[in-house]
Amino acid sequence: MTRKVFIKTFGCQMNEYDSNRIYDSLKNINFEKTDNQYEADCFILNTCHIRDKAKEKVYHEVGRVKKIYSHKKKPIMVIAGCVAQAENEEMFKREPYIDVVIGPQSYHKINNLLKNRLEIKKTEVTEIDTIDKFKHFDNIKNDSNKISSFLTIQEGCDKFCHFCVVPFTRGPEYSRSFKKIISEAEQLISNGVKEITLLGQNVNAYSYNENSKNYRLSNLIMELEKISELKRIRYTTSHPVDMTDDLIDCYSSSKKLMPFLHLPIQSGSNKVLKLMNRKHNVEQYIDVYDKLIKINPNIKFSSDFIVSYPGEERKDFEDTLNLIKKIKFINSFSFIFSPRPGTKAGDFEIINKELSKQKLIEIQKLLFGYQLETNKSFVGKKVKVLIENTMKDQKKLFGRNKYLNSVITEGAENYVGHLVDVLIESCNQNTLFGKINNYNSEAA
Ligand code: SAM
Ligand code: SF4
Ligand code: F3S
Repeated sequence: MTRKVFIKTFGCQMNEYDSNRIYDSLKNINFEKTDNQYEADCFILNTCHIRDKAKEKVYHEVGRVKKIYSHKKKPIMVIAGCVAQAENEEMFKREPYIDVVIGPQSYHKINNLLKNRLEIKKTEVTEIDTIDKFKHFDNIKNDSNKISSFLTIQEGCDKFCHFCVVPFTRGPEYSRSFKKIISEAEQLISNGVKEITLLGQNVNAYSYNENSKNYRLSNLIMELEKISELKRIRYTTSHPVDMTDDLIDCYSSSKKLMPFLHLPIQSGSNKVLKLMNRKHNVEQYIDVYDKLIKINPNIKFSSDFIVSYPGEERKDFEDTLNLIKKIKFINSFSFIFSPRPGTKAGDFEIINKELSKQKLIEIQKLLFGYQLETNKSFVGKKVKVLIENTMKDQKKLFGRNKYLNSVITEGAENYVGHLVDVLIESCNQNTLFGKINNYNSEAA
C-alpha cells in the first residue's frame, strides 16, 4: 500500500537538498511525495537551528499539524534537521505528538524507522554517521528534475565560529567521493537539470583523496565543465580562508562557473572577527576580492553580516559599513546576533535591543541600496537568463541571470530549460522584468 509523505523545509539550501533526498529514499518503501499537507500519512518538519527562537517555532509548527489532523488519522510526526540534532529526545517530553526525532547525519536510517511502523514507538536517532549516510544515498537515484538543482559535496564544519551551531548540528567536515558526486551530477543532468549548485557548509573546504590524488572543489568544477548538457555551475557557501588559488583560477578557466560569489565575512572589523573566531581578517578577505576582480572584473559578490556581536562598538560597525561601500555587494543577508545554546557565545546577551535594530536598519539600507542600484544597471540591457519554470499564472516565465537575480519575462513554456536573452525593461529591489529578445542556446 502506498502512503503519502509531506516535508516542510526550513533553513538553508542543504536542508532543501536533504528533503529531496529523503523523498527519494522513502520511495523505496512505498512512500509517495505529496504537496498537500492535509493528506499526509507521514509529516516531516526539516528544521533549522541557526537563529532566534528556532526551537519554539518547531513546537508551534507541531501544534499546527495537530490542529490540521485533529479529526483525521494522525500522521507519523517526524522532526528532522538541525533542531532535531540539538534537542534530541527532549522533544518527546515537551511534545508527545512527535514520533521520530532524526538528526541530519542519520537520514540513512529513515527507511528502517518508517518501514514497519505498526504502533507509535518513540524513536530518536541523532548519531553523527556521515559516512554511512552518504553510502546509503549514493545507491539511491537523485530524482530531482528541476532545471536548477542542488548537489551536496561536503557537510559539516571544523571552524567553530563562536556564534554558530553548525559544527554541533552537522558534525565535523566530511567530503564525499569525487566519483560519486560526478555520478550524481550525471543523474541530475539526465533528468533535465541544466544548472548545478554544489553545496557544503564550507563548500570550498572540499578535499577528497582517491588513488593518491587529492581532489578539490576546483577539480569538481572543471570535471562538470566537460558535460555539454550542463549550462551553469555555482557553489555555496564558501569560507574566505578556503578561497585557494586553484579555485580562483576557475573564474578564468571555466566558462560555466557563474561570476557571482557568496562569500560571508560577518564583520568589517578585525577586532570583531577575532572575537567571533572567524580565522580570517579583513585584509585577507580583500586580498581574495582583489585576486578575483583581477582575474575577472565582472565578478560580483554577496555576503552575510552579523550586527551587534558582543564587543562591537560604533567604530567596528562603521568599519563594516565602509567595507560594504568598498565591495558594493549586490545581494546580502544581515542578522542581529542571536545567542545559540551550546556555542561559545551562547551565554552572551544583546544588551541594547533597540540599538541592534537601528544598526540592522542602517546596514540593510546600505545593502538594499546597492542591490537596487545593480538591478537598475540592467534596465535597457540584454541579459542571459536560464528559464527555470512558468509562473503560477502560466503566462510568465521565471529564471535567473548569471548573478542569480530573479528575472520575470513573458514567453512560452517551451523556453523552460533554455538560456535566452531577455531585454530588461524595469526592476525593483528583488526582481528584473523584461521580455525575451532572442533565443540563444549558448552556455553561460
Ligand atoms: N558557513 C557559512 C559561513 O561560514 O559563513 C555560513 C553558515 S550559516 C548557515 C549562515 C549565516 O547565518 C552565517 O553566515 C551568519 O551570518 C548567520 N548566523 C549564524 N549563526 C548566527 C547567530 N548565532 N546569530 C546571527 N546570525 C547567525
Ligand atoms: Fe558556522 Fe563559522 Fe562553520 Fe560557517 S564557518 S558553518 S559560520 S562555524
Ligand atoms: Fe539551519 Fe542547519 Fe542549515 S542550522 S542554516 S538548517 S545547517
